[in-house]
Amino acid sequence: MSADLIDGKAFAAGLRERVGEVAAAFAKAAGRKAGLAVVLVGEDPASQVYVRNKGRQTIACNMESFEYRLPAGAQEAELLELVERLNRDPAVDGILVQLPLPHHMDELKVIAAIDPDKDVDGFNVVNAGRLAVGQPGFVPCTPLGCMMLLKDRLGDLSGLDAVVVGRSNIVGKPMAQLLTAASCTVTVAHSRTRDLPEVVRRADIVVAAVGRPQMVKGDWIKPGATVIDVGINRVPAAGEGKTRLVGDVDFDEAAKVAGAITPVPGGVGPMTIAVLLRNTIVAAHRNEK
Ligand code: GUN
Repeated sequence: MSADLIDGKAFAAGLRERVGEVAAAFAKAAGRKAGLAVVLVGEDPASQVYVRNKGRQTIACNMESFEYRLPAGAQEAELLELVERLNRDPAVDGILVQLPLPHHMDELKVIAAIDPDKDVDGFNVVNAGRLAVGQPGFVPCTPLGCMMLLKDRLGDLSGLDAVVVGRSNIVGKPMAQLLTAASCTVTVAHSRTRDLPEVVRRADIVVAAVGRPQMVKGDWIKPGATVIDVGINRVPAAGEGKTRLVGDVDFDEAAKVAGAITPVPGGVGPMTIAVLLRNTIVAAHRNEK
């Protein structure tokens, strides 16, 4: 392997430490802690792990964690009522409704019900619009975390060719907006892109967010490029019933060619919650004004 490893785990730990200091100062000045409310509907095991980690890290960063659990069979109206109550609660600075929601609920409708100024996930259309036109708002945590890693590694990104593989509302689209705002020349590639390897080969920056294990191969990478792997895919591993986590990039191949690359796990993953906590303390300062 010749690429440098981009250590998202260490970067996220540093960010959480800074957020914790700012949150302690906030609590002293405001006479209350900043508060993050997390809502989980149903019993999805992966979501339960995420929510537990969010709660623990919120408390470790000197903020208040409020957790709400609704059964999988709860009515959408019940969830909307809870969101409205959290919108009005002055102790709650940030609201996160864990996705995916059960199929009988309309995710877009639920996200639209969150006060845009408490939408620390940045998923509300008001925040998507603010990002698109360059107004201050909340930016989705995973792409914002990717930008932090890129700027830390590369400094000024202006003029660089960036290819984002994936066009989701949560990662691909906001990632493209952020890279455009940083003056990159941005291509958004996806499952219908013709000659995807050739498109990726042009990139100084590759952000892979498609959810397909090891899809981006080593010979798609321009020598020296910076590779950010957003994928977290569980695949079978050697040994009875064993599994392991891999990204959307074939790490072993790409690491021979890239200049720098994020590992999975330990790359982008840990950044998401750290940025969520950063967005929450920003929300708290805005709400106190
Ligand atoms: N499910 C998986 N990741 C996320 C996230 O960042 N935010 C929310 N709300 N749900 C998720």
